[in-house]
Amino acid sequence: MRFNEMHPCPSGEGIRFMAETAGNGRTGTKGAQLRSYLLGLIEGELKPHEKLPTERDLAETFGVTRLTVRRALDQLGYEGRVYRTQGAGTFVSEPRIAKSVELTSFTQDMRARGLVPGSLDTVVEEIPAGAEIGARLALSPRDLVAHISRVRTADGEPMCIENTYVPAKLAPGLAARGIDGSLYQMLTETYHLKIEKAEQSIHATVLDPPLAKLLGVPEFSPAFKVLRVAYDKKNQRIEYAESVYRADRYSYDFVIFRTTRDNTN
Ligand code: GLP
Repeated sequence: MRFNEMHPCPSGEGIRFMAETAGNGRTGTKGAQLRSYLLGLIEGELKPHEKLPTERDLAETFGVTRLTVRRALDQLGYEGRVYRTQGAGTFVSEPRIAKSVELTSFTQDMRARGLVPGSLDTVVEEIPAGAEIGARLALSPRDLVAHISRVRTADGEPMCIENTYVPAKLAPGLAARGIDGSLYQMLTETYHLKIEKAEQSIHATVLDPPLAKLLGVPEFSPAFKVLRVAYDKKNQRIEYAESVYRADRYSYDFVIFRTTRDNTN
């Protein structure tokens, strides 16, 4: 479904009824009630790309000004829950893909969510590691690596840009063979390299115009930059990867545990 497709949305009597029933026993300011009503619509009533009620209908129903409605919608826009299309209205965004801290591949992440993984603009080349990639992989700058550059897609939609480097001596012929699916699967099945653990860091970034174009989002949109050095059980470095994920479609979710040392409050 395309972003601009329009869908029927609750209006007039419909909103009033939902606002009233959602408001039974509701507390807080009118602005807070409006936000909780909108969240209810986004999370329950409406599907991605369906249209929210108009600013005017919302203002009338909740007895607030259009400015209050606009602020509530802007806030939901900053949070990536809705998007606006000039002249057409406000629509529900696609839900974010929640990424856990488990060591998974892009292919596994997408399949786990019922999405079909894919890649665009794949380039695989064998190049000298150079100083920076060499340091990440504990190689000399002159050692060769297979460099794989891909735009990763879910159901055909660009999600992330990935640049991955694998030491050529561990995966001989990878560059010549090319890749048309999961790198991790290929490393396991063809080269018997099984990734066991990884060091990973996640930074906030914005997409410069060329990257934004590749991902099909507005220039300077927010993104996550994820750096991963992956090891096998012999502690060999198998991969260094730099992945840039759209922040409107990803979140990182953690389960966190209290330590035994600090459980007094
Ligand atoms: C994730 C990781 C990358 C890894 C990739 C492999 O995106 N961040 O470090 O290279 O998965 O994915 P696949 O096996 O689908 O090619």
